[in-house]
Amino acid sequence: MSETSREDLRQRALGLDAADPLAARRKLFVLDDGVYLDGNSLGALPVHVPARVQDVLTRQWGELRIRSWGESGWWTAPERIGDRIAPLVGAAAGQIVVGDSTSVNVFKAVVAATRLASLRGGEPSRVGEGPSLADGEPSRAAGDPSLVDGVRDEILVDATTFPTDGYIAASAARLTGHRIVPVDPADVPAALGPRTAAVLLNQVDFRTGRLHDLPGLTAAVHAAGAIVVWDLCHSAGALPVGLDEHGVDLAVGCTYKYLNGGPGSPAYLYVAERHQSAFDSPLPGWNSHADPFGMTSDYAPADGSVRGRVGTPDIVSMLTLEAALDVWDGVSVDAVRAKSLALTDFFLECVEAYVPAGRVTSLTPAAHAERGSQVALRCAEAEPVMRRLIERGVVGDLRRRPDVLRFGFTPLYVGFADAERAARVLAEVLDEVPAA
Ligand SMILES: Cc1ncc(COP(=O)(O)O)c(C=O)c1O
Repeated sequence: MSETSREDLRQRALGLDAADPLAARRKLFVLDDGVYLDGNSLGALPVHVPARVQDVLTRQWGELRIRSWGESGWWTAPERIGDRIAPLVGAAAGQIVVGDSTSVNVFKAVVAATRLASLRGGEPSRVGEGPSLADGEPSRAAGDPSLVDGVRDEILVDATTFPTDGYIAASAARLTGHRIVPVDPADVPAALGPRTAAVLLNQVDFRTGRLHDLPGLTAAVHAAGAIVVWDLCHSAGALPVGLDEHGVDLAVGCTYKYLNGGPGSPAYLYVAERHQSAFDSPLPGWNSHADPFGMTSDYAPADGSVRGRVGTPDIVSMLTLEAALDVWDGVSVDAVRAKSLALTDFFLECVEAYVPAGRVTSLTPAAHAERGSQVALRCAEAEPVMRRLIERGVVGDLRRRPDVLRFGFTPLYVGFADAERAARVLAEVLDEVPAA
């Protein structure tokens, strides 16, 4: 590639950064002079967070001690922070509770979804006895002689899912007497049937960055009379989700990626308001009790999103997340989405221009309607290439070892010059690493 074309891409990057309405957000984060493209795994630290956490430790815990459960708002933090996340995923207040890991929330949501479904279509037959391990057999249509009237005994699970969702769903199925049907998200409409109780899907595929059709798939699941659970780990904070608008039933997500909550920060659970009174948690801990300090031996669930709680919240992590969410004040998710698409388009253009033909293949859909906020490049030499990229300050990661280079684009702190530099360094590294 000529020096003129290279200079042209550099100049375009500078122009795009100069015109970027989100560019000023970058200074809110602790970053070095490298290019951080791994915020889809662990978001960067916002500059103001350490002082806020210091206050939680020294004043709230150190000085106020037990009084902080009330005076510092510790007890109500899970719902208060849920309401801060709500606008980022298109939910009205009162439907999101923060706590536990995504894995634990997947468990709560999948079991609760089967319980909600059973209110519509009867209990699964032979509870606890039926086959429940994944066997890939497609859902049977109405008219199948083995179909028991009104029984919904299948859980459809995204076959391309992040592994934890699949493991947890399989265990939930064993516990509840359901059977797992692994399905590629595109094939969900065909696999749905009168036996479908619940469907667990990811809005964005963690490997390829493919964005699935949340509105269309939610409508299809509802047309089959089933309940949908969406995993938003790779979409919340990167693109508009529209939970309320699209009538989603239940959703879960993590907060340590695009929401910058810090390593292991608590996840969240969305239960649509219309389902809250029937939401029957499989983990009904004392924090979800209507009168937790009554210390009664009978369980009576609280109303509203509190019902999704389990035990004592992890206050230090939770308040770290709460502080981190300040970086979203005044940010429109539509603006984030527009920048994310422009960034990933520009990165793909730079890769095309700089990288010798045949060395990498994009697994990320070209169509905007099908793209999340990351670019995944298949590369036969992915491991040594990523190692050298990181040595040179361009930090991405590897998935489905050893052949996928993954680059996450977090529009609050990644710019167009970063995208151009990452593609240029990738081409230089590929020059150094011989093709396998
Ligand atoms: C799509 C998806 N689901 C679930 C998880 C697991 O989340 P946790 O470790 O909070 O249980 C991840 C983690 O990266 C993820 O990407």
